[in-house]
Amino acid sequence: MAKDLSFVCANCGAAYSKWSGQCDACQAWNTIHETKALSSGPKGKTLGAMRGKQIALTDLDTQEPEPPRTQAGVAELDRVLGGGLVKASALLVGGDPGIGKSTLLLQAAARFARNGLKVIYISGEESNAQVQMRARRLGLEKSPVKLAAETNLRDILTTLEAEKPDLAIIDSIQTMWADTVDSAPGSVSQVRSSAHELTTFAKRNGMSVVMVGHVTKDGSIAGPRVVEHMVDTVLYFEGERGHQFRILRSVKNRFGPADEIGVFEMTGKGLAEVKNPSALFLSERGTPAPGSVVFAGIEGSRPMLCEIQALVAPSPLSQPRRSVVGWDGGRLAMILAVLESRCGVPFTGLDVYLNVAGGLRISEPAADLAVAAALMSAREDAALPPEAVIFGEISLSGALRPVVQTENRLKEAEKLGFTSAISPHQAKQVAVKGISLRQSHDLAAFVEDVFGAR
Ligand code: TYD
Ligand code: MG
Repeated sequence: MAKDLSFVCANCGAAYSKWSGQCDACQAWNTIHETKALSSGPKGKTLGAMRGKQIALTDLDTQEPEPPRTQAGVAELDRVLGGGLVKASALLVGGDPGIGKSTLLLQAAARFARNGLKVIYISGEESNAQVQMRARRLGLEKSPVKLAAETNLRDILTTLEAEKPDLAIIDSIQTMWADTVDSAPGSVSQVRSSAHELTTFAKRNGMSVVMVGHVTKDGSIAGPRVVEHMVDTVLYFEGERGHQFRILRSVKNRFGPADEIGVFEMTGKGLAEVKNPSALFLSERGTPAPGSVVFAGIEGSRPMLCEIQALVAPSPLSQPRRSVVGWDGGRLAMILAVLESRCGVPFTGLDVYLNVAGGLRISEPAADLAVAAALMSAREDAALPPEAVIFGEISLSGALRPVVQTENRLKEAEKLGFTSAISPHQAKQVAVKGISLRQSHDLAAFVEDVFGAR
């Protein structure tokens, strides 16, 4: 046994098995202190002396062929997937209950089956009859998709092993249970271990797996977040209740760009893709009114125009209301503060409502200027020029910052018949034919330019 050398000289670092007043090595006095030996980890849990097999290492630049992809033939879905479904990948599709995940995946399953993949759809929530009924409603009952209603993971994996599909859809991961885990289906440990089993099975067998995960607000069942790190691709299916639009957004994608979106419309016969979302989001726009602004945004790789609406009204409350739909409430507070302190426009005693029309959710800072314009327009009761789009980021100092992809924004605006744009001043000028630019360096200058001297 190695001697326990736990007394160390603070001066020269010599180690001893017992304390002494003077260090033999450097002759210093009173420098030896007892130190705790470093733990070597929990005893009995180390790998021990048994050897594994040596792993073959490769270089970074070896020419591995790109994994094959299969397209669904639905442009909105393929783009979000980064160009198609990658072989042997694991996907997670999250979303609120009732938003249309099962509908989307049944339609996708039928498309992939038509394009040559062997697809198995396993529902843990609905009976076969229910899924068949939905398939009839969607006109997909003749698709070569195999179906099962099952929640026992061991049986499912045995079946998948025997059937060898190219794609398995698990609806939903929260209903699955593995008999190796004691807790109830939907608990964090069940969801985690089911997802882990399915993902490793998929990778080992060259099968792709799509898992549905319900987003839950109350946390009574584990949400999809607990498995996000395990899968290759995480998609969220979003939409506002009462709106027909559904947005499929990629938040993580190992095989393509994240933050890409696909726009769908829920119809009586399932989800239909929306090819020109800008036109759709602006279609409900009536005559230009104070408080309404068209924002030229970018979602993923695609420009998208949408309407931002604001309403400002005297408040009966001591603490006026600030209400936001489709945008970040914290960011609204920031814009109000900048308007107040940099431009001298107070909002005290006024209720402020902000809405992104059509049920879209915007997270881009480029919407700052459009929001400020909508707020000012509502407060001053002055409509903005109806042929103008607005974009730009606002900093706390009140300066306007240029944003990415200006040219794409302008081109989209031009395509939809707009003739001018209000934006931050840019060092490198971008010109798009048919669009006249109005640019400002800071918010105060913008307010003065558009709403007159204050
Ligand atoms: P569903 O796919 O079951 O949602 P999830 O799996 O996310 O819980 O879809 C639920 C809603 O979609 C339901 O309220 C009915 C509606 N729906 C349609 O409007 N049209 C259709 O063709 C289908 C199949 C569903
Ligand atoms: Mg469902």
